[in-house]
Amino acid sequence: MKDRLLSDIESLKREAMSELAQVADSATVEACRVKYLGRQGLVTFILKSLKDLTVEERPEVGREINAAKEMLEARLAQLRDSLKKVELDRDVAAQKLDITLPGHCLPRGRRHPLRQTMRDVLRIFTDMGFSIHTGPEIETDYYNFEALGVQADHPARDMQDTFYVEGGYLLRTHTSPVQIHVMENQRPPICTVFPGAVYRRDSDVSHSPMFHQVEGLMVDSNITMRDLKGVLSTFCRRMFGSGVGVRFRPSYFPFTEPSAEVDIQCVICGGSGCRVCKQTGWLEILGCGMVDPVVFEAVKIDTKKWSGFAFGMGVERIAMLKYAINDIRLFFENDMRFLEQF
Ligand code: DAH
Repeated sequence: MKDRLLSDIESLKREAMSELAQVADSATVEACRVKYLGRQGLVTFILKSLKDLTVEERPEVGREINAAKEMLEARLAQLRDSLKKVELDRDVAAQKLDITLPGHCLPRGRRHPLRQTMRDVLRIFTDMGFSIHTGPEIETDYYNFEALGVQADHPARDMQDTFYVEGGYLLRTHTSPVQIHVMENQRPPICTVFPGAVYRRDSDVSHSPMFHQVEGLMVDSNITMRDLKGVLSTFCRRMFGSGVGVRFRPSYFPFTEPSAEVDIQCVICGGSGCRVCKQTGWLEILGCGMVDPVVFEAVKIDTKKWSGFAFGMGVERIAMLKYAINDIRLFFENDMRFLEQF
């Protein structure tokens, strides 16, 4: 019995070692561990047979089994270690990154043509010493109309049919009410531009219910029409090119007296007449004038001491002329094919 067990142990060792010599992955290592050392394993099976030996025989066979067990455990541990390294290397090789391949690029963003135009306009005025101020888009009738000399029955209200909001408020139809806010809060000298969105009940290829204006106001002692002409001619030449023709045409606004509109030579045909300038050779780009005394009275600025001029222009219109865009709606549709051209 004892000899048979001892030779079983010998052959088990040989069998196990030769089996382990073939092993190439950790799953097989684990299968071998279960086969020999598991609870139903062969070593365990021999251990259980010890009870059939005499008390004298047991220590010798027990030692042999323990030695075989330790040998197997050591070999298994060694295999597990080396296979772990091999497998890690294999995984790393399989997932190897080629860092020289080009990455996924995010499409490059750019400024919206309206933002760009707005910045260009403001830059020209800040270069001339104007500061920038903004006002509310929701206004009262007083600021939008009344304080600017447009009484409830004034015919000029027809041109600026607006959106009325609950509580007697309305969406401002122009940036001119910011003039009133500024003059209520600040005494002259004033030299400021006011950019922002404005709203009108209007919609076609050249009108949008929401669009943008830049308003300007200069109030000081001895401000005359010459200052107005100097500032606005400079603006036109910097915006549209130093050679562009500029003309001041008498006009009417309830909040300026005298009033004018500023035209530039048509940027499309150069002045010879085309569809864009309606064959006149000129394009209207802004309204302006000397601040009307009724406006100064509303904000309690002494007209004997102070005088000033104001102007207002549409940013969409300027961008359309500058970039030869024929439909205002293109600015707001966010079609990438359009936006990518700027
Ligand atoms: N507020 C006028 C409009 O929206 C534009 C304008 C004209 C503004 C003359 C002014 C000005 O400040 O003096 O049509």
